[in-house]
Amino acid sequence: MPYYPQTRMRRNRQTDWSRRLVREHRLSVDDLIWPCFVIEGTKRYEPVSSMPGVQRKSIDLLVEAAKEARDLGIPAIAIFPVIEPELKDEDGSLATSPDNLICRAVNAVKEAVPARGVICDVALDPFTSHGQDGIVRRGEVLNEATIEALCAQSIVQASAGCDIIAPSDMMDGRVGAIRKHLDSQGRQEVQILAYAAKYASAFYGPFRDAVGSKAALGVADKRTYQQDPANGDEALREVALDIDEGADMVMVKPGMPYLDVIWRVKERFQMPTFAYQVSGEYSMLMGAAKRGWLDGDAVMMESMLAFKRAGADAVLTYAALDLAREISP
Ligand code: PBG
Repeated sequence: MPYYPQTRMRRNRQTDWSRRLVREHRLSVDDLIWPCFVIEGTKRYEPVSSMPGVQRKSIDLLVEAAKEARDLGIPAIAIFPVIEPELKDEDGSLATSPDNLICRAVNAVKEAVPARGVICDVALDPFTSHGQDGIVRRGEVLNEATIEALCAQSIVQASAGCDIIAPSDMMDGRVGAIRKHLDSQGRQEVQILAYAAKYASAFYGPFRDAVGSKAALGVADKRTYQQDPANGDEALREVALDIDEGADMVMVKPGMPYLDVIWRVKERFQMPTFAYQVSGEYSMLMGAAKRGWLDGDAVMMESMLAFKRAGADAVLTYAALDLAREISP
């Protein structure tokens, strides 16, 4: 490669049209998944105080929001239920009930917006009184007993119309067990998006506020099942296992502090690889923007390009609607 002065890197950058021609990555609405929170009731909005601009919505309002997302071209939304504390129990038994809040929400959204995808977490944490993602006995999160509950939860959600089941619990062997169970019940078409490399991250704080699992969890943590943030190689093993067990898509979570992991996963496996820009990442950007410290739209778009550059095929982001409006006004 010739060097300066023959080579001038600024030559290609001097005009907007030229920068457009040499641009390597761009964000499209096709890359966006919108996570939203659903609550009981009708015509109810509740702002999430730790997530500027994010609201929990009752099913009727969620349906309106899903139509808006559809009209903006967003391919899929992910729905998270906020369960009233008195309905939670030790084993999260409401998770497997076919008329629980998440199933009713999925049903209503699919009815109103049949041509878009609905993604549901499979994990017990919204439903357990202790806020852990699994069944706990004598202080231990039990792997096999939890998987059994997750299989049952997958079926009720699939029956409600959920297109993509997303195990977010990090139990060993759950993807394979869920795939087998879905198939045995005639649900071969249901896709599995594995939260394959999911770290025990403090960046989930605002989400746990939003769904009310923070109070339930108290000072406990999820380090016996979610990954140690210090480890990168371990993520590749996690992803390999989930692929072997039948995952259709894999996810890395959180997103921006783990761009190296996204890159390595995409390079190694060439699988559809999604990134989750989690609640804490969203709130850092939007909280600063709200105070006038950052340009919110600009840092959000820049973060999305970073995900694309790292190899992500799609991004779950609470800013999906704003981004979609910005891309295709
Ligand atoms: C539940 C779940 C969590 C998130 C998605 N699914 C929280 C957790 O594992 O404690 C976090 C999402 C976010 O922070 O935006 N298993």
